[in-house]
Amino acid sequence: MTISLAMSIPAFAEIVHVSTPKTSLVLDATKGEPLKFLYYGAGLGANDLNAFPGSGDAQFNAYPVYGLWPEKEAAMSAVHADGNMTLDMAVTGITSSVEQNGAKVTTVSMADKVYPFYVDVNYRTYPESDVIETWTVTSHDEKKPVKLTRFMSGYLPIRRSDVHVSQLYGSWANEGKVEEAPLPHNLKVIKNKDGVRNSHTSHAEVMMSLDGKGEEQHGRVIGAALCYGGNFKLMFDTDDSNYHHFFAGINEENSAYNLKKGEKFVTPALALTYSEEGLGGASRNFHKWGRNYRLANGDELRKVLLNSWEGVYFDINEEGMGQMMKDIADMGGELFVMDDGWFGVKYPRKNDSSSLGDWMVDTTKLPHGIKGLCNTADKNGIKFGIWIEPEMVNSISELYEKYPEYIVKAANRDAVQGRGGTQLVLDMANPKVQDLVFEVVDTLMTKYPEIDYIKWDANAPIMNHGSQYQSADNQSHLYIDYHKGLEKTLQRIRAKYPELTIQACASGGGRANWGILPYFDEFWVSDNTDALQRIYMQWGTSYFFPAIAMASHISASPNHQTNRIVPLKFRTDVAMSGRLGMEIQPKNMTDEEKAQTRKAIADYKSVRPVVQHGDLYRLLSPYDGKGAASLMYVAPDKNEAVYYWWKTEQFVNQQLPRVTMAGLDPDKLYTVTELNRVDNSPLPFEGKTFTGRYLMSNGLEMPLSHNVDWNKRNDYASRVLRLQAK
Ligand code: GLA
Repeated sequence: MTISLAMSIPAFAEIVHVSTPKTSLVLDATKGEPLKFLYYGAGLGANDLNAFPGSGDAQFNAYPVYGLWPEKEAAMSAVHADGNMTLDMAVTGITSSVEQNGAKVTTVSMADKVYPFYVDVNYRTYPESDVIETWTVTSHDEKKPVKLTRFMSGYLPIRRSDVHVSQLYGSWANEGKVEEAPLPHNLKVIKNKDGVRNSHTSHAEVMMSLDGKGEEQHGRVIGAALCYGGNFKLMFDTDDSNYHHFFAGINEENSAYNLKKGEKFVTPALALTYSEEGLGGASRNFHKWGRNYRLANGDELRKVLLNSWEGVYFDINEEGMGQMMKDIADMGGELFVMDDGWFGVKYPRKNDSSSLGDWMVDTTKLPHGIKGLCNTADKNGIKFGIWIEPEMVNSISELYEKYPEYIVKAANRDAVQGRGGTQLVLDMANPKVQDLVFEVVDTLMTKYPEIDYIKWDANAPIMNHGSQYQSADNQSHLYIDYHKGLEKTLQRIRAKYPELTIQACASGGGRANWGILPYFDEFWVSDNTDALQRIYMQWGTSYFFPAIAMASHISASPNHQTNRIVPLKFRTDVAMSGRLGMEIQPKNMTDEEKAQTRKAIADYKSVRPVVQHGDLYRLLSPYDGKGAASLMYVAPDKNEAVYYWWKTEQFVNQQLPRVTMAGLDPDKLYTVTELNRVDNSPLPFEGKTFTGRYLMSNGLEMPLSHNVDWNKRNDYASRVLRLQAK
């Protein structure tokens, strides 16, 4: 919301107040002056607003540009058509508008004082959301292209006060790990250069705990999430002032952009949130905003599915798929997803070295084609889904033989090839490639409208810099135009198929980012399905992403990635804390295991709305090394909650902390029921009723082991409790 308080403040200043229910961002957008940052934090009323611009951090430009006083880091730099490398921007106007979904956009327009070069700084707020999105639109009227050499989405000065930054890091099969550290002097950079995916090794989101180490339920936290699927850069520059200077945007390295006269360069949104309820509060703000405004179909519930990958890998055949469909239907699942291995005619896909691009069914494996599988799914009363990897091609494929010019490749050099020794990336900057990728989905959906779910994979980075489509002058556009092209294609797909469920997979968790999620319903958290390691990965991922978006599957024991032997109960209890699915060969499960899973799926369905649409409270972090981890989801009306407790270590005579709950109504009475129970006798508090106050100040004591024969050892104890208010 923009409130012009020009009546009550000195006549020369134009105060812009961007507000959400609990937060305020205040700027001074006086015409003819640089746009000044004044304040970001707790929501302000008229009294405090009246005190601006005398109060606040007015010494900083809200969108610093390079050129005059060039010793400071800047959000933007450019080389004008005449070679001048400086910018000097001043405010020319403020406008505001309301979008279809009720979002309000405030735009501060700026122009260079000498050159016809323009930057609009935008702020978007949504009803009932404490997230502010900021981004810029740059254009010019200079005679020749202007070379943009830095183009951050946003900037924020952060007052020094023992600021600790939490970031996610990792690798393939070990995504979403949390690292928290105080900000160093000089520069801290978090970046990605994969080109295609951007969340294996680092993440484009951070939490800034302003007053020392972050706490879950208390303390001032600023959360920042750059909504961009490509190469990004987050920077904290700590200079000789009292401030850290935070910048976030597209990574400009090897990506200078030649902007033509009249063309608009739009940066991705940087989503900011502020909470005084600690890391948990900032996470809940992101989750709510994400479910309501960013995630595809964020208001729907997700189906319980079985994915074929870890069950059969490439060994797809009709009989096997039929058996898996029957098994998941018998266990109460609602969807079956056939993974990699179903396609390729001239070059049938037997392993990962061929066939990507040839999205035609291999009828030697599937004589009745996809139609036959859809019919089988229907007979079993479940839906059918399918795996594709449409941005990619293998050099052994009909597509590559026909269109070698479609791949990303440097001129005069052979293309570097990836997975399977033959995988190549298609050049999404090329409109013909965009059409082709659109058609992969469109053809499948037109031929088989029964398809309910697509797993969209992306298993290669950009391995050599070069676009066969772009001119020699614009080779540096590759990374940016790849993602522009991808986004355009996804927009077309979503316009035509808004209800199709689409999973963003990218060698596991390579696409956990809010830039890609408007087109996807969920993402695959990791190719690592080991329940113990997943506790850590899902914990970190939950800092920024809601459970509804986090695909979490029960897999085999020993686990295929870690070889760890983990009881089914524990595997299920971990998977049940996200979007529950299975990734296993049900044929290899015993009848007892199937019965246990059937019961667990039914239990999950009973609390699915709370898990998928509720508020997350992280209670005991696995990273604290206390021997257990715990979290819970609470329904918005606080009438229902689901509590998870997992033992993460096993030592003799170990004392584990008792976990106090959070987020409940202290005065409500909650009845406790254990879900996915395997014990022979119920827990002492089964069926009993407690006040929210007791549960939040005392908590319930979890027995350290299960009293069942199959689990003589005590490790991997876990409990899931449903709390229902009377
Ligand atoms: C990637 C995905 C897996 C699976 C395989 C198929 O690795 O992350 O889940 O789909 O591709 O080849």
